[in-house]
Amino acid sequence: MRSFFILCFSILLIFGASSCSDDKSNGKKPRSAKADPASYNRTSQDAGAKEEAPAEEEVRTVPPEQLKKAKEILAAATADQIAEVDAKGKYKMFCAACHGFDGALGVNGAKDLSVSKLSIEESVAQVYFGKGLMTPFKGLLKDHEIVAVSKYIEKEIRK
Ligand code: HEC
Repeated sequence: MRSFFILCFSILLIFGASSCSDDKSNGKKPRSAKADPASYNRTSQDAGAKEEAPAEEEVRTVPPEQLKKAKEILAAATADQIAEVDAKGKYKMFCAACHGFDGALGVNGAKDLSVSKLSIEESVAQVYFGKGLMTPFKGLLKDHEIVAVSKYIEKEIRK
């Protein structure tokens, strides 16, 4: 019985050692990755996808129809309405979970609001419609509250 265990153990050792040395040679020589075509393809596809993503991100802007809606929201919100909103409180309640109190927390890839360069129209559009992992606040916040919070970011959060 004991020799059986020793046998198992040594088999494990041999397999362990050989897979380790495979790993090392994979790391050193990319050529050996071709030995496993599936993994080779996968990694090359992954690399391709990663390269494409930022390029896509750069050309992506706020869609024109969203910008149009944002302009309407901005035009409809009166100065009195905006002044009545506790924008700081709303920001803390609805935005700080991801963006942090200073705007730079970055949970879930949330953009750093302290360095944001978006126009007020673009900000309103993004808060209203959401984007990526950011929740749309349409319905959660009133239109003029979205304007007030966007203005609060421009005035108080941006450096
Ligand atoms: C669930 C997390 C989350 C919450 C809550 C959240 N955001 Fe965001 N926010 C994000 C993410 C993620 C991005 C980046 C989206 C992207 O570009 O794909 C972002 C981006 C932004 C941007 C764009 C910044 C730029 O320069 O591109 C603004 C403006 C913004 N958020 C404002 C707000 C406001 C105002 C609130 C509260 C009403 C809020 N966010 C709440 C996650 C969140």
